Amino acid sequence: MQDRHDLLTAAATALDHPSPLLDRAELEAFVDSFLQRRQVFLDARRRHGSPLYVLEPQVLRDRAEQLVSTFRDELPEVSAYYAVKSNNCPLVASALVDSGLGLDVSSGLEWELALDCGAQEILFSGPGKTEAELHLAVAHRDWVTVLVDSFAELELLERTAGAARASVRAGVRLTTNERGLWRKFGILLADLPRFLARAEECRHVVVGGLQFHTSWNMGPDNQVAFLQRLGAALQDLPAGHRAQLGFLDIGGGFWPPQGEWLQPAGTPEGKLREAVRPEAEPVAPSLAPHRFPARPLQDFAREIAAALRTHVFPHLDCRVCLEPGRWLCNDAMHLLLTVLDRKADDLVITDGGINAVGWERFETDYFPVLNLSRPSLEEHECYVMGSLCTPHDLWGYSYFGTDLQPGDVLLIPTQGAYTYSLRQEFIKPLPQVVSV
Ligand SMILES: Cc1ncc(COP(=O)(O)O)c(C=O)c1O
Repeated sequence: MQDRHDLLTAAATALDHPSPLLDRAELEAFVDSFLQRRQVFLDARRRHGSPLYVLEPQVLRDRAEQLVSTFRDELPEVSAYYAVKSNNCPLVASALVDSGLGLDVSSGLEWELALDCGAQEILFSGPGKTEAELHLAVAHRDWVTVLVDSFAELELLERTAGAARASVRAGVRLTTNERGLWRKFGILLADLPRFLARAEECRHVVVGGLQFHTSWNMGPDNQVAFLQRLGAALQDLPAGHRAQLGFLDIGGGFWPPQGEWLQPAGTPEGKLREAVRPEAEPVAPSLAPHRFPARPLQDFAREIAAALRTHVFPHLDCRVCLEPGRWLCNDAMHLLLTVLDRKADDLVITDGGINAVGWERFETDYFPVLNLSRPSLEEHECYVMGSLCTPHDLWGYSYFGTDLQPGDVLLIPTQGAYTYSLRQEFIKPLPQVVSV
């Protein structure tokens, strides 16, 4: 009964407090910034066909520079590693390595990519590392630090390195949330003393740091809260163990400053409507997308640095490592499509399907669809769909342009994060990547 009451209260609160709307002027400025450069994209389409992933390496270089300078303004020693899983296109990793970043890899596949693009510094993180992957880490020990995920993995790494009579640099990942799905990552903070004591006995693994990662952070609160907990745990560590910890990897999870843009169906109130009336028509396509704000990177850097000074630096003299993915690559890759069929005034089919992004992203996330062939800041309602045999193959419920006709070239901007690396072989061929 109490549960029912709590649920109904939560539902009423969601309905009474609709999610904030995306400011129209902000949206138009975003659209305009791409329309200004429409010729660059149209040229790429003419030369390479469509569908196409269009990569802007200069955006990656600018982000890398901004990331490092923002954190170096606040902290004495900072190293940055690009989380390859967020976009595993080799051109993305190469551009970031050329800009001076290391790479954070989580599998043998990502290892190959890191070695191919000449990364000088590699972090190897993630749960369930295989023996073959650890062999690779031992073989490339001059460049790699293994972020150990469990006690068992420490033993496996010790055996693997011991068999090669080698010594491997390592750190240990800490669990940030002891409940639910995030339990799978790292060891409990309470087990850190036991882990470091066991690591001391391992002659082939040198544990020299700590790692944690929190995700989907619209501001620095999650990182700051964990740093506070970490500080309390560090206080109780023997001085010898503290002295051996020379780096603290605070992970990634920084949200891009434009915030999260959502279709009505992606908001809490939209999800609620869908759950209680699934047979109803989907929430009508709307020209009023929502926006959940994100704090700028400067705020993350300032507040994380303050938390480090208060909670961590009194106990550890350490370098700070960053492992961002999304913040670096989100704005650097776009999708180009061509309209194949206009089935109704408000329904078109394009040549590219959402297998290029790997998930039904646009039913919940909002990104403007720009008609580069008939540019305009006017937005019109229209189902813009792909050519896969699934009704979920949707790019958006509207487009910016004066009209939409077969042969028109469409741009879906800022599709750089968790799209390319989730792409799937499904029905239609995958687009090629071109750099502009
Ligand atoms: C260990 C680790 N580090 C860094 C990242 C990158 O996160 P983001 O792309 O949100 O910055 C991830 C993402 O899953 C991760 O698992």
